[in-house]
Amino acid sequence: MSFIKDFPSLIDQSVTIKGWAYNVRSSGSLVFLQMRDGSGFTQAVVSKQRVDEASWQAAMALTIESSCIVTGVVQAHPKQAGVYELQADQVEAVQIAAEYPIGKKEHGPDFLLDQRHLWLRVPTQWAIQRVRNEIIYATYDWMRDHGFVKIDTPILTPNACEGTTELFEIDYFGDRKAYLAQSGQLYLEAAIRSFGRCFDFGPVFRAEKSKTRRHLTEFWMMDAEAAFVDHQGNMEIQERLIMFIVERVLKNCQPELVILERSQEPLKKIKLPFVRMTHADAVKTLRELGSDIKPGDDLGADDETLLTKQYDQPIFVEKYPAAVKAFYMKRSPEDPERVLCSDLLAPEGYGEISGGSQREDDYDRLLARIREHHLPEQAFQWYLDLRRYGSVPSSGFGYGLERITTWICGIHHVRETIPFPRLMNRLEP
Ligand code: 4AD
Ligand code: MG
Repeated sequence: MSFIKDFPSLIDQSVTIKGWAYNVRSSGSLVFLQMRDGSGFTQAVVSKQRVDEASWQAAMALTIESSCIVTGVVQAHPKQAGVYELQADQVEAVQIAAEYPIGKKEHGPDFLLDQRHLWLRVPTQWAIQRVRNEIIYATYDWMRDHGFVKIDTPILTPNACEGTTELFEIDYFGDRKAYLAQSGQLYLEAAIRSFGRCFDFGPVFRAEKSKTRRHLTEFWMMDAEAAFVDHQGNMEIQERLIMFIVERVLKNCQPELVILERSQEPLKKIKLPFVRMTHADAVKTLRELGSDIKPGDDLGADDETLLTKQYDQPIFVEKYPAAVKAFYMKRSPEDPERVLCSDLLAPEGYGEISGGSQREDDYDRLLARIREHHLPEQAFQWYLDLRRYGSVPSSGFGYGLERITTWICGIHHVRETIPFPRLMNRLEP
């Protein structure tokens, strides 16, 4: 068995491809099979003169999405450079597909999401998942090369990480409650005191009642945490990682970006260092641009879009008001009303892809924050222990895999970047 992706090195050779006919067209004594084998797409040309009768009958019987095995000779397309075809010598139908619900006409997003189990086969969806896959591998490679140990953090947790209003609560054997993790951060803070630098990468859950193009209720986060790294160092780690990811996708995902018709210029323009801007300056700029944001406000999605359209580069917005951020963030020494945090906003209007901060490392101040936020003190004893025994300055961040994939693919909505999206109004298929 050969793979379509290897066709450039298989010219004039006889190969066998196993896959699916995503489109079939016949004209007289020719059948054109648009084939997909998982690794790529090609056209197999079946000529009645060239193949035996059984193969011809099989080719004529194939419907859209029928599975099939085709043996033939790889040829460079006579007119299009970089395109290869298969001159079929043998065709075998594995299964003749029933009439396929996804046609060539335009379907609405709800219909396609209902058919997600089938929609995943469409070239654009294939391309998006392959870009996602490249981002995952690039992340693992970069983290390992920079001394981060992968630590798997729990999904079932006894308390909140990112605020209590967004928790999915479940019955834990009837006598107590458990919550689905919103981020593995707090557990990584324990782990860095053993390993120095750690990351996790897994599904997290947010019960927020948001129906925006940026929100999923289940999404994949990569949390990274490092001992003896301050707020500045935390931003440097993030920008280098994101830069590496962009370069890897540009290098390894050309066919995918072409299928997605992603304009590559904006990605190629990205360089280090990214823009840094305080929250106070961001508010000032936004107000000049017509936003009604107040100095104490968090940036809304529209604000993020507005701001990122002013620059070609990703932007770190730093030092948000403490009141709009999580309890564990360290206060800024210059201004105790602000925290040493950053949100990283992707260009072209995409907005927040990563959020991080320096962590409060002082026991008394952390305890005060836990009390101010009305968090259950008992449940946070283990977290407070990390400040009792060998506390160090430390920082970390979490990126949203679907947000990054959405931006790099240049698509509109995060829901297409996860194989089976979970949204406020969608749990199926
Ligand atoms: O900004 P968030 O809430 O940060 C944390 O959870 C920290 N504990 C991370 C850390 O410091 N280790 O979430 C991190 C990222 C966001 O920047 C965004 O990219 C993504 O997760 N994200 C979402 N993606 C899709 N749907 C949602 N509902 C998301 N909420 C956050
Ligand atoms: Mg955030």
